[in-house]
Amino acid sequence: MSTRAVRGATTVKENTRGAILTETGFLLREMMEKNSLKNEDIICILFTATEDLNTAYPAAAARELGIVSAGLLDYPELKVKGGLKMCIRVLMLTEAIVAQSEIKHVYLNGAKILRTDLLRDENRVAVALDGPAGSGKSTIAKLVAKELGFTYIDTGAMYRSVAFYCIDKDIDYNNELQVISRLDNINIAVLSTKMGQRYLLNGDDVTDLIRSPEVSEGASKVATYKAVREKLVALQRECAAKQSVIMDGRDIGTNVLPNAEVKVFMEGQVEERAKRRFEELELKGITTTYEEILEDIKKRDYNDSHREHNPLRKAEDAVLLDTTHMTIEEVKDYIVEEIKKHIKEEE
Ligand code: DC
Repeated sequence: MSTRAVRGATTVKENTRGAILTETGFLLREMMEKNSLKNEDIICILFTATEDLNTAYPAAAARELGIVSAGLLDYPELKVKGGLKMCIRVLMLTEAIVAQSEIKHVYLNGAKILRTDLLRDENRVAVALDGPAGSGKSTIAKLVAKELGFTYIDTGAMYRSVAFYCIDKDIDYNNELQVISRLDNINIAVLSTKMGQRYLLNGDDVTDLIRSPEVSEGASKVATYKAVREKLVALQRECAAKQSVIMDGRDIGTNVLPNAEVKVFMEGQVEERAKRRFEELELKGITTTYEEILEDIKKRDYNDSHREHNPLRKAEDAVLLDTTHMTIEEVKDYIVEEIKKHIKEEE
C-alpha cells in the first residue's frame, strides 16, 4: 500500500448543521466507495468551508461515519472573488493499492463545476457548436475546451482529411462515385496529444496540411456525399460517447448530437468572417488574398447550406449568437456560462 491523495468537494443549499453534516458525510462515503477505501486506510482528512458556512465543522461528519483514528482538521477557504459559494472541499490522505493516477476524485452538487474535466458517463456533457465558415467556431471551441477540460472535436478537419486524400491520390473530388469507391481506404483517427487533437489520415498526421483553400473547397464538396457523411458522423458520435466534448461543424446540433446538452449556432457577416479567415491563413503563412477568401467563403456558405444531406442549419433548440461585433473573450465567456448553467440545472 502507498499513500494517496483523494480530492472531493460539494455544495450545500443552506447554512445549517444538518445540511453541512449530511452533504459532507455523503461526499466522504462517495470518495471512499469510489476508491474502495476502508475507515482504517485513512491517514488524515483536511476540510475547508467557504465563509458563508459557519454552523458546523465539516470534520464532524467524518467522526459520525466512524472514522476515528485519522487526523481531521477544518480550515476556512480562501475568499477568492467570484468563487463558488456554500462549498466544502476535502483532501483525504489514505493508504491505497492503486496508483495515484487511478484515484477517483469526487465532485458533487454545484461543485461539479470545479472539475468539469472529470464529468464522465451519466454526467458527460456534449456541446454542439455550428455555424458557417469563419464564424470563429474553432477558436472559441478550443478556448472553451481548455477552460472546462473538455475534448475539442473539429469535424471539419475530418471532411478536410477526405478532401486531402483525394487531392493527394489524384482522385477527382467532384466525382462522387470515384470518391465513394475509395472510402474504405480512408481511415481517419483523432489523437489526443499535448498539442491538442491531431487528425490522422491512414496513420499520417495531416492536421497542418488540411487548411489550404484547395482543401477547403474539396471538403465542402465531399461533405455533400451521403456515404462520406455517414462514415464521418459515425466517427464523430464515437468520439462524443467517451468524454465531455465540444464539437464544431455544420450539422452537430441537428444531426450528429441531436441530444447535446448545449447547442450554439454562431453567425457573423460574411465580410467579417472572410477578414478573420484571411488573417488566420496569413499567420499560418498560406498565401492568398482577402478577395479570394471572400469568394471561397460565399461559395462554401452556399454549398454547405443548400446541400441535400444535413445542410448547415440552426437546430431549433440552439442559441443563436451573432459574433460580428463580439470579441473572442466575450463569445467564449458566453458559451462557458451556458455550459455552467446546464451543469447547475442538472444538480
Ligand atoms: O469547418 P471547416 O471550414 O473546417 O469545414 C470544412 C468543410 O466541411 C465545410 O465547408 C463543410 C464541411 N463540414 C460539414 O459539412 N459538416 C460538418 N459537421 C463539418 C464540416
